Amino acid sequence: MGRWSQKVASPFLTWLGVGAAARWSDVGCGTGALSETILRRHDPASVGGLDRSAGYVAYARARLQEPRVRLAIGDAAALPWKAYVFDATVCGLLLNFLPDADLAVREMARVTTPGGMVAAYVWDYSRGMEMMRHFWDAAVALWAETAALDQGERFPLCQPEPLKALMTQAGLQSVEVCAIDIETRFRDVDDYWRPFLGGQGAAPSYVLALDEHARQRLREAVRERLPVAPDGSICLQARAWAVKGISPRS
Ligand SMILES: C[S@@+](CC[C@H](N)C(=O)[O-])C[C@H]1O[C@@H](n2cnc3c(N)ncnc32)[C@H](O)[C@@H]1O
Repeated sequence: MGRWSQKVASPFLTWLGVGAAARWSDVGCGTGALSETILRRHDPASVGGLDRSAGYVAYARARLQEPRVRLAIGDAAALPWKAYVFDATVCGLLLNFLPDADLAVREMARVTTPGGMVAAYVWDYSRGMEMMRHFWDAAVALWAETAALDQGERFPLCQPEPLKALMTQAGLQSVEVCAIDIETRFRDVDDYWRPFLGGQGAAPSYVLALDEHARQRLREAVRERLPVAPDGSICLQARAWAVKGISPRS
């Protein structure tokens, strides 16, 4: 986890324009990619991270060993923090997976000081995240019923207007959306395919459930779609949609 989110983290944080010495929180911090970038580039007073996975929190604790960081195991729907304790609350690559993203954004707004920043980013699964698009387009072309699993279909939130509406309905002000485009480079087809064999999420679970013959068919169908350079490498674009809003002064 974090191979690509780390690349989105820097432009995302720069876009927020939060000054030094801020108190940050990172909801769904995972292995700590976003928190680490906050520490490295934004000179925070503190970073409070939260994830529901004890394993990821343990990993992030080992990675971010410094007194400004406090990491907790918990749920984005019920943040274990008092109101108004952060200047900036961020959330990377999580909102679309939540059963109630609206509740999570309200929680992010609750813990953020009036006038503070609440922001998030998600992958553009339906178009701009080419790594996933090639995978699902190949799978659906082989087996039409796979369309029901396609994250482009399942995550309508991952577009500018729904993201803007989510933040506005949570009471945030001056809401803005921006596209963040990064390059995702793979050494070769194996390097591209490996995350689908072992990672978490819908696509790896789908690959894992296939028998060996079907798995090889799918790999070959994906490979045919990939823009493989003469040296074997593959360069794809990945678009994230970022959204930010200001916590209201009550
Ligand atoms: C795709 S990962 C992104 C991690 C990290 N933000 C990054 O950008 O690398 C999504 C994370 O959200 C966490 N997560 C999923 N549901 C959650 C929930 N209800 N509350 C808190 N964390 C959750 C997962 O454990 C995982 O670490």
